[in-house]
Amino acid sequence: RVVGVLKELEESCETTVGRLRQVVDAMAVEMHAGLASEGGSKLKMLLTFVDNLPSGSEKGIFYALDLGGTNFRVLRVELGGQRSDLDPDVEQQPIPEQLMTGRSEDLFDFIASSLHRFVEKGNDSVQSSITKELGFTFSFPVKQTSVSSGVLIKWTKAFAIKDMVGKEVAGALQQALARKGLNMRVAVLVNDTVGTLALGHYHDADTVAAVIIGTGTNACYWERTDAIIKCQGLLTTSGRMVVNMEWGNFWSSHLPRTSYDIDLDAESPNPNDQGFEKMISGMYLGDIVRRVILRMSEESDIFGPLSSRLYVSFALRTPAMAAMHKDDSPELTEVARILQDVLDIPDVPLKARKLVVKICDVVTRRAARLAAAGIVGILKKIGRDGSGGITGGRSKSDIKMRRTAVAVEGSLYTQYTMFREYLHEALHEILGEDIVRHVVINVTEDGSGTGAALLAASHSSSGSVDN
Ligand code: BG6
Ligand code: GLC
Repeated sequence: RVVGVLKELEESCETTVGRLRQVVDAMAVEMHAGLASEGGSKLKMLLTFVDNLPSGSEKGIFYALDLGGTNFRVLRVELGGQRSDLDPDVEQQPIPEQLMTGRSEDLFDFIASSLHRFVEKGNDSVQSSITKELGFTFSFPVKQTSVSSGVLIKWTKAFAIKDMVGKEVAGALQQALARKGLNMRVAVLVNDTVGTLALGHYHDADTVAAVIIGTGTNACYWERTDAIIKCQGLLTTSGRMVVNMEWGNFWSSHLPRTSYDIDLDAESPNPNDQGFEKMISGMYLGDIVRRVILRMSEESDIFGPLSSRLYVSFALRTPAMAAMHKDDSPELTEVARILQDVLDIPDVPLKARKLVVKICDVVTRRAARLAAAGIVGILKKIGRDGSGGITGGRSKSDIKMRRTAVAVEGSLYTQYTMFREYLHEALHEILGEDIVRHVVINVTEDGSGTGAALLAASHSSSGSVDN
């Protein structure tokens, strides 16, 4: 029976290159649809009003806040007017869980207090008469009204603060800063993908897109304003704007979906939402594995008596899953330890431990390959996949592929080796050797907050978008 369950899982998670190419095409098509009209696609393709990317000439001291990943960060960056290795002061801490689902005022007071303490600890005065410029990375879907303001569309990941949906995000922060007596101005409000793109571009000017693969997953890219059809007449000095895709909500019938995904979605606080994210990101992978082990335990005795822990949602977190996946000891002792400590399943025989490693492999491989297809979807949309763009027309030999860099970050990509390897392997398979050698993946660890500080610098004295 167990073999049957595994076989079924493998089949339903199948990601042949053919299928990945269908996902690539669907991603590019949905991007067009999301740019064409409001509500034209599950991809929101949100305007960011970021129309210039840091050049390296930025100067001064800038602060940033970074909220929405595993850790909350406060940063201070000193820019000397020349492109150099940035060395920000950073303080990070996990967000207390009760703040993720409580009242917005409590969350923003917590953020402002952390910033207050941080500024006080440094050499800057908290109430200085000179207003300090602040970049705010807020890693959720926001409908921006300018580069420094916007309203929260909905929460994703583990956040669910009801009174905040539909509210102005930078305004809520600005009020909390005022309550703490901090003389700071939110100069930019950006998604984590956008901060990552800014830092990626600062280090490598060929960077055209940024992807986060962490607790959640998302991407943004540098788009021509005339391609943003839903916003006719949008003028920027660069003729471009960063678009936050919110690709976590991407959906296509070509995605290989299993009964575990369907159950996970149905039991989640946001059913029918964030379908792509639920197959890929760190918040969910461990839970998919838990669901498979649960089914096997219900249908056989390979894991011994049924553990009640297996019924607990999110009992198995992705870091524990990654640790089991990489266990290469002959007896798979780490797998045994985690099954016992985390899922309360003792004395698992070696063949069952091997089975667990296999399940982790199937789930992670699918996730990584789908993320790779997403990346190629963006390259296709902007004509950097070697095919001549979505409308095609040119033959491969006509196209001189330019060096194209994508900034990637997030704990899943940086901490989970197998995930990263599968993602790179799939990029090779989909694009082919000739094209993939022009595509560079740059890792920018902890980069989003630093990117937000850079954007605060480059947008500090200009609004520069005339709509
Ligand atoms: C960090 C960014 O490096 O990556 C965050 O600065 C982002 O803003 C995060 O949300 C994503 O990673 P994770 O794994 O913490 O969700
Ligand atoms: C979720 C958020 C998105 C963010 C991503 C990565 O998908 O909706 O805004 O970029 O997580 O943190």
